Parts: sequence; structure tokens; C-alpha cells
Amino acid sequence: MRTKYCGQIQTIDLNKKIAVCGWIYKIRNFGQFIFVDISDWTGIVQVVFQSNNDVIFKQAKKLKNNFCVQILGIVIKRKQKNCKLYTGEIEILADELNILNSSKPIPLDFTSNRDDTKLKYRYLDLRYNKIIENLKIRSNVVDLIRTFMKKKNFIDVETPILTKSTPEGARDYLVPSRNYHGKFFALPQSPQLFKQLLMISGVDRYYQIAKCFRDEDLRSDRQPEFTQIDIEASFVTSTQIRSIVEKLIKTVWSKTISSKLSKFPTISFHKSMEIYGSDKPDLRNPIKIIDVSNIFKKSNHKLFFNLNLNKKNRIALLRIPNASNLSRKKIDDYSEYSKKNGAKKLFYIKLEKIEDKYYNFQSSMKKLLNNHVINKILKKTNAKSKDILFLIADETHIVNKVLGMLRIKIGIDLKITKKSSWKPVWIVDFPMFIKDSNNCFSSMHHPFTSPKKEDEKKLHKTPELAIADSYDLVMNGYEIGGGSVRINNYNIQKKIFDILKIENKIQNKKFGFFIEALKYGAPPHAGIALGLDRIVMLLTNSKNIRDVIAFPKTTSATCLMTNSPSELNDYKLKEIGIKIIKNTFNEVT
Ligand code: AMO
Repeated sequence: MRTKYCGQIQTIDLNKKIAVCGWIYKIRNFGQFIFVDISDWTGIVQVVFQSNNDVIFKQAKKLKNNFCVQILGIVIKRKQKNCKLYTGEIEILADELNILNSSKPIPLDFTSNRDDTKLKYRYLDLRYNKIIENLKIRSNVVDLIRTFMKKKNFIDVETPILTKSTPEGARDYLVPSRNYHGKFFALPQSPQLFKQLLMISGVDRYYQIAKCFRDEDLRSDRQPEFTQIDIEASFVTSTQIRSIVEKLIKTVWSKTISSKLSKFPTISFHKSMEIYGSDKPDLRNPIKIIDVSNIFKKSNHKLFFNLNLNKKNRIALLRIPNASNLSRKKIDDYSEYSKKNGAKKLFYIKLEKIEDKYYNFQSSMKKLLNNHVINKILKKTNAKSKDILFLIADETHIVNKVLGMLRIKIGIDLKITKKSSWKPVWIVDFPMFIKDSNNCFSSMHHPFTSPKKEDEKKLHKTPELAIADSYDLVMNGYEIGGGSVRINNYNIQKKIFDILKIENKIQNKKFGFFIEALKYGAPPHAGIALGLDRIVMLLTNSKNIRDVIAFPKTTSATCLMTNSPSELNDYKLKEIGIKIIKNTFNEVT
């Protein structure tokens, strides 16, 4: 039906007869001429209908926006060039018009529409939005990944969707069984156990572009249904897995956006928390958290900061270069922001002029700042005239969290963060476990993560000190991947379940099949899963993960287009043996 896509017609096509297909995007009627913009997934081209071609001109008058059409005509040079359009030098002089389908006026105007209208009419939003461009990039990225993995001898193996719970820390999406009332399948939160079973089977190098399902609170980089590039290999170390993934990411970045990434640095979890207040540091921002606890050791300091001496405290600051002229209002805003996120107070030191022993500064903690203290702070922070320092003294986890958030906010506000750069980083050496307020342990990654060889002994007496052989890949502050060396020893796996206080009976019920498999010569193995949606979100510079998914869910995990989840009729409920109890939980609106 077509000889060329709308968005690809150029001056080399001048005087050629062509056929295009697409949708009417805009109509301008000038009496003697009707100009029509026609669009398809490559772009827009202008078509002109002239009144001297009576038959076709009459037809053109019937056109309305969004009609689906086929137009045949000659490519001619435009009188007035449109520099904004790729096809802006030419237009098509129409000599045949076929209306393939009419259209109701579409309920979107692309300027004021709320997100929910756009999601309800997602297919129309896709038609006219740049999301199709993102889907093309996503498709290319998947091609690159498949080519790369094949070259490295990985094979693509599909794993079940109707399965049993995999513990990745979220709630499961459950599917009731019609044949066995009261029994449920769980949709996989990841293919974790299956990929490990494949290693036990002897599938030496596995990968899969795998759909995962997690019922958890959503954010701009999270969807309940998302896609992982899931990877596992046998007889490899964590360094080998990281090296393969690093090459893969470099290939994807280079071939998709022509960006050459240099070697990924590695930072331990502990250091990352200390310096960036987060295990997902955005290294495009050079501001670091600087510890000054040692400068404020005296009891009058502790009193001034109102520190609870029974808790683990930290005194630390951010040095913001050349920002001493920050307005009172801005400082108040940052102070409010810090309080809202849990800090007792945010102190500031504005260094107006620093020369030899002459210090001119303003501060909300002036009382503590004698020359001796200021001297030490300057030495520790390398601060100069015109810098501003923001200080928090509080419980360590609060100081890390709030200064971590503040460095991101200030980095963006003051344009310190180099937005157009790429800063990947491996975060390694995570603790095996986190302890909650009731002294109960949970896995920092998942319970199949191996401790570092030298830390195996710690599992017996001091599990809280055991370090995992795990790694996260972070790009510009987003966690784009996570993985680990796995436990392949039955006794260690049992020990981990014991530490997590998962009783024998539950262990067997939940993971019996897997624990059993570990008894049959399970090889050493390691792997990782990368978040495909997040990677494409970064590559396309999208603000929200929804912009790289054709049919995404809302932030309350519903699909407005299909109106799902939806109710079942009584017959279907009976068939699967389910009775609905209304209002047990607050309904999500
Ligand atoms: P993890 O839970 O860290 O590891 O997930 C791996 C990567 O998947 C992406 N991701 C998500 N993307 C969008 N929406 C979500 N809700 C979401 N949740 C996770 C992130 C994350 O880094 N089985 C392990 C991997 C392994 O150990 O091999 C796992 O799933 O980019």
C-alpha cells in the first residue's frame, strides 16, 4: 500500500510518484489549497491538495483529524521550508486519496491531558507521542543483548511463569488453581531458583529476557510487571560475571547512544553509605559527605547538638563550592527538607572570606566555631572562601540518609550534577543480613546469596558481620542490576535459613525442591539480573519507567485501558473455589 514512510521522504525523492499511509495529524484549508500533515511511526510529511484537481479536492474536504488514509502523489519542493521537520523541504502533491478509516475526535490534546486519560487511551498516546521511538530503542537494545550473549556462548532458556514464590522481598502476584481449590501459583518475582536449577542441570551459561512480577509500592523507576536480563553461569567467580556484564553494558551504551564508557569503578557498600549516604550513589555529582565527628568530640559539643548518647551518632557535612551567596530562603528550604526527612536540624557555615588566620563567616552554629575548630574543619574539608557547609549531627543512619538526599537536591538545584554524563559504579561487599528492631535478620539480597569464602565462619556466631559475595550495578543513581555468587553447599544454605529463622517445615514447604537439588553435586555458580526497563529509561532520557513500556500500569498498579484488575462473576469464582470478603483491606483508589 505504501512505497515510502512519511517521515523518510527527502529531496532525493523529488518528482517521484509515491504512496504513503498514515493518520491525519493536522489540516489547514486555504480555499484554493488544503494542506494536510500525515503521520506514521517515522514522522510527519505535508500533503497538498489543489482545487484544480476537482475530484480529489472534494474528497480532501471530507478529511478530519486522525482519519486513516492512503495518499498517492508526486514529491515537490516546498515554497516555504519548515526547518523543524525532517521532511520540511518537500511536500506531496496529492493525486489520489483513499480514506481507509474514519475516526472519532480523539480524547487527547497532548498539552493538558492528565496521565490517567493518556493511560486509558494508551494506544492513541503511543500513536502521537515519542514513546514509539523509545519502543524502537528498546527493541534494538534487546537485539544487541541477544547478539552479545550468543557470542559469549550463553543460551536463552525460558522458565515458568506459573510457579512458586521466589523471595525477592516483595509480595507475590497469585493465581488460583481451578483444579486444586485453595492452592495457588505465584508469578515469579524473578527466575532466581530456576536459573540456579539450570546450573545444577549442567546448563553452563544461561540468560533470559524474563518477565518478573512484584506486588510492591511503585515509584517512577518501578513497575509491578517488568523485564530482567537474567544471567547465570557455572564455574565462574563474581569478577568474571561483572566483567561480562560490564562489556555488555559498554556495548549497549556505545551502539545505542554512541557513548564510550570507561572502566566501572567499584565501591564497597560501607564506603558508599559513608560518602554518599546511599547504596545507589549518583557519581555525576562530585559532592561527598565529609565526616567531622572527630572535630566535635567534647561534651559541650554533644550537648549543643542534643545528641542521644545511647545511639550510634555521626557528625558530618557537605561542602558546596562557591555557594556562600545562597539566599536565606534557599537555606531555610534545605533546612525544612532535612527536617522533613528526619534530621533534627541542619546547620550551615557560610565562608565569606578565608585568608591566613582571618576567618569571616556566618553560621547557625557560631557558638562552637572558635578559630581552632574552624581551622580543623577547613583542613578536613579543603573548604575555600565563598563555599558553604551544611552540617548534620544526629544518629548515623539519619545523617547518612539526609545528607545523601541533600547532596542530590543541591547537586541538581545548583547545577553541580553533570547531567549529560554517564557514571556507572559497582557496589560490592554488602552485608549478608540486615537486623530489624526486634533483632531478627533478613537477607540484604536474597537468601541464596553466598557469603564471601572468608566470612563463612562468621555465620555461626556473628552473622551480622558476614559480608556477601554480591554486587549491584548503579548508573547515575539508578540500580540497574544486582547479583551474587550463590550458595552451592547444602549445609550453608540450611544455615542461612536457620539465621533467617525459617523453620525446617517452612523451608521444606517453600524451597524443599531446591534444597534437595543442592544435594546432587551443585556446581559453584554466580549470576546477575539487569533491569531492562530501567536501562532503556536511562538510554532514552525518560523521566518515568512507563515511557519505555508499551502498556504500563498506574502507580496504584492498575491498567486503566483494560480496566484491570477486574471482578469475576460468581460462576468463575465458584470454579476456582474463591469467596470474596469485602472491605478487609482499604481499597486503593
Ligand atoms: P533484584 O531484585 O536486585 O535481583 O532485581 C534485579 C534488577 O531488576 C530491576 N528491578 C525492577 N525494575 C523495574 N521495576 C521493578 N519493580 C523492579 N525490581 C527490580 C532493577 C534491579 O537491579 N534474582 C535477583 C538477581 C540475581 O541475584 O541474579 C534479582 O531479581 O534494575
